[in-house]
Amino acid sequence: MLISVIGAGYVGLVTAACLAHLENDVRVVDIDAARVERLRAGDVPIREPGLDALIHEGLATGRLTFHAEPTATHGSSLVIVAVGTLDRAGEWTVDLVERAASGIAHDALAPRHLVIRSTLMPGTAVRLAALVRDIDARMRVCFNPEFTREANAVKDFLEPDRVVVGAGPDADSLVAELHRLYAPLGKPIMDTDLTSAETIKLASNVFLAAKISFANELARLCAATGADVHAVVDGMGLDARIGRAFLSPGPGFGGSCFPSQVRALPDLALRYGVVTPIIAAVAPSNHEQAIWIVDGLEQASGRSVAGTRVGLLGLTFKAGTDDLRESPALRLAEVLAGRGAQVVAFDPVATQAGVDQLARIGIAVEAASTAADAARDADAIVVGTEWPEFATLDWAAIAPTMRGRVIADARRIVDRSAANEAGLTVVTLGIEHAPRRPSSDDAARVAIPVGTPAGV
Ligand code: UDX
Repeated sequence: MLISVIGAGYVGLVTAACLAHLENDVRVVDIDAARVERLRAGDVPIREPGLDALIHEGLATGRLTFHAEPTATHGSSLVIVAVGTLDRAGEWTVDLVERAASGIAHDALAPRHLVIRSTLMPGTAVRLAALVRDIDARMRVCFNPEFTREANAVKDFLEPDRVVVGAGPDADSLVAELHRLYAPLGKPIMDTDLTSAETIKLASNVFLAAKISFANELARLCAATGADVHAVVDGMGLDARIGRAFLSPGPGFGGSCFPSQVRALPDLALRYGVVTPIIAAVAPSNHEQAIWIVDGLEQASGRSVAGTRVGLLGLTFKAGTDDLRESPALRLAEVLAGRGAQVVAFDPVATQAGVDQLARIGIAVEAASTAADAARDADAIVVGTEWPEFATLDWAAIAPTMRGRVIADARRIVDRSAANEAGLTVVTLGIEHAPRRPSSDDAARVAIPVGTPAGV
């Protein structure tokens, strides 16, 4: 099938490269001519495992081509709109999608089959379908959401749990086309209406964000009661009704999707006069988590972080990406700096970009060139992103260069026994397991005084 994809951003490139891999001919159209040139030369502007290989494969077979002219869509069976939906402030906006959709409708030689893949707030696709059908009554519209995670997007596209197709009025032939397109994946395809498809996408993300926040609040409770939150979420996750995925506590969720969507959904509900207290609580709960982690660091260190030097390891919103958007690690920097700490940050891929981003909101953070540099002279370490290299740090070499003894590990990635052996205390999400050193009390604890019944 010959397909056009509007937007060479994250969603557009993954969609286009995967559809070309499934032996479709795919034309990617983007107004950014420089970006198009780069892509034609095989220079992939985003970091995503497996994407480079698929784009190179598509370029080599000739199935994947890049264009700056909108007329490149002419002759395609359908056009997929995958343009951005966040404004400069990181809030959801439909402007670009609307512009792309009406541009296609106005161009009589462009396909009359329009598939929107950009995330839409429920109710938007019905309005867009009416808009394009007013321009040209032959227009048919579907909404086909993506459920791909950054750093896992190619795999999520090619091995999805499900494909959702929301159909607009009279769109049966377009729905059938989408079924043919996705049939090679061999996964369930769910057909529904436009607004339900939009809601499936949004509700899935907000539900996962709420699940993470539930685990984060449990971590706070467990730290207070003495329970081990990791045992608790493992135990809960074994219940098939609950499941273990997205139940790992951490410094809070970040990224381009969850934060903006947990803010947008309660606002949307209010516009319909609907109050959603559970959903509305997710964003504030997420915001609290970094504060709680820094509180834990202060408790374990027995002092405020004010005036101390803190090495922050990791700045991206999760490992495997250079994306800093709404990163909880940046939020940790914000809380630390807000309490008067001098933060020195290191990230394997985004140190300078992260430091620059913080500077733009008035937070001065020093850049370190390695994790060991960030730790040098530090009164404490905070781990904000689960980069695998933080699991194998040489604490025996690092500890003597540090001033303080505490590591606040918000990602449960630090090798606790290596750090403990180096004399460091690791506080993992509120749970502190101090280094075990022999003490005179030990003997008293195990010795059973003569004449005392065992077990008393
Ligand atoms: C998310 C959705 O998973 C995806 O389906 C959607 O299409 C886009 O938004 P993404 O933002 O790439 O994907 O990241 P994801 O892997 O879902 O992680 C989001 C955030 O939650 C990260 O900050 C991550 O560290 C955090 N997280 C995730 C947790 O804190 N605990 C978990 O158990 C899982």
